[in-house]
Amino acid sequence: MSQKLACSEIIDHARYPIDEADHPQRREVIERVRAELEHDGCAVIRNFFSAPGLRALLAEASERKPQTYYSERKQCNVYLNDGDPGFPRDHPLNVFIPRTNGFITADLFGEETASHRLYYWEPLKQFLAECLGKDELFIYEDPVSNMIVNVGKPGQQFNWHFDTNEFTITMLLQAADSGGHFEYVPDLRSATDECYDEVKQVLDGDRSRVKRLELNAGDLQFFLGRFSLHQVTANSGDTDRLLLIMSFSEKPGMIGSMARVKNLYGKVTDAHADNRVRADNLVD
Ligand SMILES: [Fe+2]
Repeated sequence: MSQKLACSEIIDHARYPIDEADHPQRREVIERVRAELEHDGCAVIRNFFSAPGLRALLAEASERKPQTYYSERKQCNVYLNDGDPGFPRDHPLNVFIPRTNGFITADLFGEETASHRLYYWEPLKQFLAECLGKDELFIYEDPVSNMIVNVGKPGQQFNWHFDTNEFTITMLLQAADSGGHFEYVPDLRSATDECYDEVKQVLDGDRSRVKRLELNAGDLQFFLGRFSLHQVTANSGDTDRLLLIMSFSEKPGMIGSMARVKNLYGKVTDAHADNRVRADNLVD
């Protein structure tokens, strides 16, 4: 067992002194991220982790790979729900496409892990909030899915979908040798409009609005996934793609819907059966 790193050692602190509120480098990064997010809802901080930090995060994820949950449902619509027979068969609600990759869930990372400690590290949350231009961010209260590792084995993919939560912070721990690309369509829907026609165009193969992001292990990515359709293309290499996903919310108490969490992660808790707080009324 390697010795426990402090949170400030998990990240490349010399380059990103995020726990020093008035540091000019911190301010510079925040301003750059805000500009990128303003541009298209996506921003990257390159090589966010220190070498020992990345090794620790990767080792934790790798150890837990045998516990990866693969959904029994291999075909999903972009809303990851059951569809709606009241709509035509070729309506986006009723178009089901392959989603074969899996997740290592939050409950498998104990409090001692670097991943768990980093997620709950207050300076990180504060830094991320400022990057996103928010006064405050809240921990996504879903005990199954708030801090997870997405596992993409060779041949696996996560096809087009929208996220439940407003913002997602991802950190690539291990890239695919080839394939496994993150692609997105910025602002395809809004909080008040599903924009089904535009979603259908992408599902029908229109790539005119599709952007592809090149990511390397250690990169931190901000993504506004509630309104931007996105996918990870098939892993065509020989190694697994491992992505740490940290979810935060603008409101306290947000958790995923029971059906969606059960489908994606294979388990739910009492919290899912209780009342839910939602920020909008989109399909999911
Ligand atoms: Fe997503």
